[in-house]
Amino acid sequence: MTSELVPGPDSPDAVSEIPGLPPEDAGRDEHLRRAEGAILRADDLIAGYLPGVNILNGTDLYCHEGELVGIIGPNGAGKSTLLKALFGLVNIHTGSVKLRGEEITNDRADSLVTKGIGFVPQTNNVFPSLTIFENLQMGCYQAPKKLDERIDFVGSIFPALIERQTQRAGQLSGGERQMVAMGRALMMEPSVLLLDEPSAGLSPALQDEVFVQTRAINRAGVSIIMVEQNARRCLQICDRGYVLDQGRNAYTAPGRELMNDPKVIELYLGTLAKA
Ligand SMILES: Nc1ncnc2c1ncn2[C@@H]1O[C@H](COP(=O)(O)OP(=O)(O)OP(=O)(O)O)[C@@H](O)[C@H]1O
Ligand SMILES: [Mg+2]
Repeated sequence: MTSELVPGPDSPDAVSEIPGLPPEDAGRDEHLRRAEGAILRADDLIAGYLPGVNILNGTDLYCHEGELVGIIGPNGAGKSTLLKALFGLVNIHTGSVKLRGEEITNDRADSLVTKGIGFVPQTNNVFPSLTIFENLQMGCYQAPKKLDERIDFVGSIFPALIERQTQRAGQLSGGERQMVAMGRALMMEPSVLLLDEPSAGLSPALQDEVFVQTRAINRAGVSIIMVEQNARRCLQICDRGYVLDQGRNAYTAPGRELMNDPKVIELYLGTLAKA
């Protein structure tokens, strides 16, 4: 049923090779070799929201245990769609997602949370009418016995949340809300955390804080896959980055390597890279 949705190599919809970057087949072979043993991997994902309209067009991704992986790319490239597909919120037509080798393709989000995946969406990521504490509590409603221990952990990363735990999330600034959203996702002790643009809409100082906190979560042992519009800052802190374009990975390499690659600068970072 799905094959007719997928553009073949000769179809006008097929994504052509991007000049100056390695051919896609080379990327796929490299992916298959390097993804071996990954904690989370996605292979050749074709996915989308509507029948006949694929947003992901053969996307590959892997994250090894302890890695901080960044995904950058132009608006509409499919970055959020990719995270949502990993988290069971977008239907995957073909391809597979595996967590520690276990097939989890199209598993439901609540089941993925119990298996160790946490997700912080790009928008609407807190319950505004609930207090900070209640938001955190909601994060581990599936494992209430963990509450005290996880509150301690979240407090070690975001002390301000504990100090202000009785305040309603709807009264918080954008930066504080982002902390609540990340804190809530950490309540189930995820082994992999998916973050969609955690620094979006924040002042430069608060953006820095979010990147420092993301690094701290990663150093505490959580593998992270982070989508970011602040491409330069993201590539500075991540172990490895992906450039996503038209639902297909154009390139993957260590963050600093990508940041200094003239082709990536020219095609994707523009003046950001020189800032
Ligand atoms: N719920 C939806 N239903 C139908 N199409 C959608 C939906 N959400 C996103 N799309 C479409 O999917 C494509 C990719 O969107 P997506 O949000 O994944 O991009 P993105 O790379 O995250 O962009 P941005 O940098 O703006 O956040 C876009 O063409 C968008 O219009
Ligand atoms: Mg997005």
